[in-house]
Amino acid sequence: MKALVLSGGKGTRLRPITHTSAKQLVPIANKPILFYGLEFIAQAGIKEVGIIVGDTKREIMNAAGDGSRFGLKITYIEQEAPLGLAHAVKIAENFINGDDFVMYLGDNLLRDGIISLVNEFNSTKPNAQIMLVKVDNPSAFGVAELKNGKVVRLVEKPKVPPSDLALAGVYIFDKNIFTAVNSIKPSGRGELEITDAIQYLVEKGMNVKPCIVAGWWKDTGKLEDLLEANRLVLETMEQKISGKVDDKSKIEGRVVLEKGSEVVNSIIRGPAIIGENTKVINSYIGPFSAIYFNCNIENSEIEHTIILENSKVANVARIEDSLIGQNVNIIKSGKKPQAYRIMVGDSSSIEL
Ligand code: TTP
Repeated sequence: MKALVLSGGKGTRLRPITHTSAKQLVPIANKPILFYGLEFIAQAGIKEVGIIVGDTKREIMNAAGDGSRFGLKITYIEQEAPLGLAHAVKIAENFINGDDFVMYLGDNLLRDGIISLVNEFNSTKPNAQIMLVKVDNPSAFGVAELKNGKVVRLVEKPKVPPSDLALAGVYIFDKNIFTAVNSIKPSGRGELEITDAIQYLVEKGMNVKPCIVAGWWKDTGKLEDLLEANRLVLETMEQKISGKVDDKSKIEGRVVLEKGSEVVNSIIRGPAIIGENTKVINSYIGPFSAIYFNCNIENSEIEHTIILENSKVANVARIEDSLIGQNVNIIKSGKKPQAYRIMVGDSSSIEL
């Protein structure tokens, strides 16, 4: 079995971060989202992985490399434009070369990995296996209708959902999916849809097997879900202090301080993680915060927030529920006249 990880796409819902960088590399609890998926694939015993890349190809290749650090062999497959999930499958036909394969959306995160999904597929050998998760708001997802334990219909964002089972971002296919992706036509939004390809298999009488998973699953394509995924992962971490803490500071609960980090006259209340060579001075870092490497937090309060590398926050009373990009400075200067002096990129959002 091989794996196909989709890491192209437009990322419109996470702008401005995705103007300059890949959404699959945004860190969740200080680890790029994509790496969780690659680790799950390796744990399931799969060795050969194709990664679909688009405009952010360089960045993804620099981060994941040849895959050896995960015990994988990675082949990069370029998609000329984000023409849909089924289009990504179509261009991977040579790489997959007739094998069964796991298709994994590179910005998705699930609690329990994919070992049981792969075992289930191997023991029952359907033509396709889709992962379903019970959700409160099925109208926001692709939803599956089941009959006698088999998938009979897939509907995209239905007004009247036939079930509360949403299609999550992990699928396993045999070679029949290539007939499907080569037969379907682009949808109204101009993309080759994977739901249409799976529906094609259903209509041809193929065995499309549902696999309902109990643990949580998150599509981190938008800010609230990204923060929620960060919260869920931080919640599972144990305390580990590899940085320096002075005696005026207090570390409460499950806090991870990575190598070279420094906490001076501050309170860190877990679950929270402070990255390599990041300094926290005269500050409060509250639960569900993940501060990446080489950051500087001074005289500020931060809670339920993700901050990317090389950023600085100084003299800010409190930041909550936020995502702050790379190389960002947020500083209250005290200069006269007192005013907000701002240089922000396109599609940014600031609430004052
Ligand atoms: P989506 O989140 O559905 O699409 P997107 O990345 O274009 O984002 P947005 O809706 O915010 O504009 O994609 C799921 C995953 O699949 C994500 O990791 C990107 C990847 N992808 C591709 O690799 N190729 C594609 O053609 C598409 C549509 C997505």
